[in-house]
Amino acid sequence: MAMKLSFLAMLLCLLLASTPKAHASVFDVTSATYGAKPGSDVSTALAKAWSDACASPSASKVVVPSGTYKLKEANFRGPCKAPIEMQVQGTLQAPADASQLTRPDTWVGFQYIDMLTLSGGGTFDGQGALSWNQNDCHKNKNCKPIPVNLRFEFLTNSKVQDITSLNSKFFHMHVFRCNHTTFQQLTITAPDDSRNTDGIHIGASTGINITHAKIGTGDDCISIGDDSHEITVTDVTCGPGHGISIGSLGKYKDEKDVTGIIVKNCTLTNTDNGVRIKTFPDSPSPSTASGIHYEDIIMVNVSNPILVDQLYCPYTQCEQKPPSKVKISNVSFKNIKGSSFTPLAVKLVCTTGIPCENVELTDIDLTYGGDKGPLTSMCSNVKPTITGVIKGLGCATSSLAPLPLSKK
Ligand SMILES: *[C@@H]1O[C@H](CO)[C@@H](O)[C@H](O)[C@H]1NC(C)=O
Ligand SMILES: *[C@@H]1O[C@H](CO)[C@@H](O)[C@H](O)[C@H]1NC(C)=O
Ligand SMILES: *[C@@H]1O[C@H](CO)[C@@H](O)[C@H](O)[C@H]1NC(C)=O
Ligand SMILES: *[C@@H]1O[C@H](CO)[C@@H](O)[C@H](O)[C@H]1NC(C)=O
Ligand SMILES: *[C@@H]1O[C@H](CO)[C@@H](O)[C@H](O)[C@H]1NC(C)=O
Repeated sequence: MAMKLSFLAMLLCLLLASTPKAHASVFDVTSATYGAKPGSDVSTALAKAWSDACASPSASKVVVPSGTYKLKEANFRGPCKAPIEMQVQGTLQAPADASQLTRPDTWVGFQYIDMLTLSGGGTFDGQGALSWNQNDCHKNKNCKPIPVNLRFEFLTNSKVQDITSLNSKFFHMHVFRCNHTTFQQLTITAPDDSRNTDGIHIGASTGINITHAKIGTGDDCISIGDDSHEITVTDVTCGPGHGISIGSLGKYKDEKDVTGIIVKNCTLTNTDNGVRIKTFPDSPSPSTASGIHYEDIIMVNVSNPILVDQLYCPYTQCEQKPPSKVKISNVSFKNIKGSSFTPLAVKLVCTTGIPCENVELTDIDLTYGGDKGPLTSMCSNVKPTITGVIKGLGCATSSLAPLPLSKK
């Protein structure tokens, strides 16, 4: 009888083992093996749990149960032997003082991993207030690096979902050389006056989707840098912040092209900009940004709802030698509704010598309720195709004269 039972148990085990999803090995940082405890620093426990999980030949899951833990540093590196999940249910807290971190530019990093899932409903609390006050990057070109909350590099086929990033010292999430990866159900929060706390910055990545995210920070909610392709942003709410931006482009030498960006069904509230493409006026080498489509966007009290700015020069970091060498083409703004905080609701300032090409404005229905004149628009070095409803916005003024550089 006993033998029969154990034979059945063995059979059952084999059956379960063959369905990897139901049987991911769990590496709980609070287990006796790793010994993490709420209130204390879990850097070592988490590093050990990660390295064991990463070496597991079958799917694995690192779990940080609910509770608040301190975390001085974390660098989760692959490649791993099988799909790996990091499930953070609790809150991880960074040291408030950035000089206590091992890597000056990163608090929590994930690198070289295929099939990573970061999930769990927990919070990465960057405790950034001290760093925001010390950030002098607006006046010092060679300012010290400041740690981002979450840095994702060289990931493929991965998912970052159902987590909160709170009060990062610098950018909240920095995505670099990742392919085919989805970011969803995210909450990203920092005060509107916290400097450089961009929500998600993407660079040199292909096939990235951001969906169902609620982002409110002191800088861009989402920004998309050079060498980015097939990026889709849907169902995102943004505000406060500087809006959803492509760029800045053209700051560095040999930047690569940007292609295939879709931003759809997003709402921006009380942001400085709505949808924006920004390039530095003194780009050292030529590049292009093309196939950029904004559709079904709601603006609520947005200062610059639609903006192409090829004279972008924050903190006078550039040598003021226009024109920008970034060629912008195949851009559409479609079904964009709501309210503008300033009368200049559509501003398309393209570069002299390389006009923007094939720009479409379709069904733009914005209102301005203030007392600074009627709603208006401005175009420079661009002749957009205009269709559908355009309320007073068909390039009301067209400037070929040199325009001032913009700072924000
Ligand atoms: C991502 O895709 C690009 C282009 O398809 C490729 O060159 C690069 O090696 C890929 N990166 C990774 C991390 O797989
Ligand atoms: C991203 O979204 C696009 C369009 O909905 C879809 O074709 C693509 O497969 C998605 N990519 C990922 C990584 O889920
Ligand atoms: C648009 O996004 C909102 C969330 O911001 C979501 O609730 C809604 O279902 C989306 N609509 C469509 C048509 O996808
Ligand atoms: C509209 O936006 C402006 C500028 O960002 C801000 O000062 C003002 O408080 C906002 N109004 C409302 C009603 O939120
Ligand atoms: C722009 O779109 C046209 C057709 O719509 C296409 O032929 C052309 O290759 C596109 N240009 C770029 C740079 O993507």
